[in-house]
Amino acid sequence: MNGPIIELINLTKQFDGVTVVDHINLSIKENEFVTLLGPSGCGKTTTLRMIGGFENPDEGDIFFEGKKINNIPPYERNVNTIFQKYALFSHLNVYENVAFGLRIKKLSRRRSTGPELVGSRNGYLLGRH
Ligand SMILES: Nc1ncnc2c1ncn2[C@@H]1O[C@H](COP(=O)(O)OP(=O)(O)OP(=O)(O)O)[C@@H](O)[C@H]1O
Ligand SMILES: [Mg+2]
Repeated sequence: MNGPIIELINLTKQFDGVTVVDHINLSIKENEFVTLLGPSGCGKTTTLRMIGGFENPDEGDIFFEGKKINNIPPYERNVNTIFQKYALFSHLNVYENVAFGLRIKKLSRRRSTGPELVGSRNGYLLGRH
């Protein structure tokens, strides 16, 4: 597709009156590999949690393939989240942990078995958080 896959428009989140994500704007196109880098507490995880649907933004919008997904529950978003530590499968290696979300979506083997497919057309993965 030509437009961005994920687009954040003025995305804002507060906890207890403190703004932890402040009007972030971000556009991610197909096959782009994007890393959020910043000091501890700057809002990286909160941003990923909003994209995944685990936190609701206080302001702003999240678009996925051009469609606003603010009110779509996590299980209906075409986004997989790999949690940092405790939710990893200890019996699987890194490769298998990354592939898991794509495999249960029953993507073809070519699309579903490799970390190199992060951000590919039919499966999108959010990394460490
Ligand atoms: N559920 C919550 N309730 C209240 N405050 C929260 C909540 N989640 C995060 N925060 C606060 O929001 C701020 C941003 O946290 P966040 O976890 O997004 O940071 P981060 O950039 O991922 O940090 P790190 O690099 O340590 O993972 C921090 O001050 C954190 O304490
Ligand atoms: Mg974090």
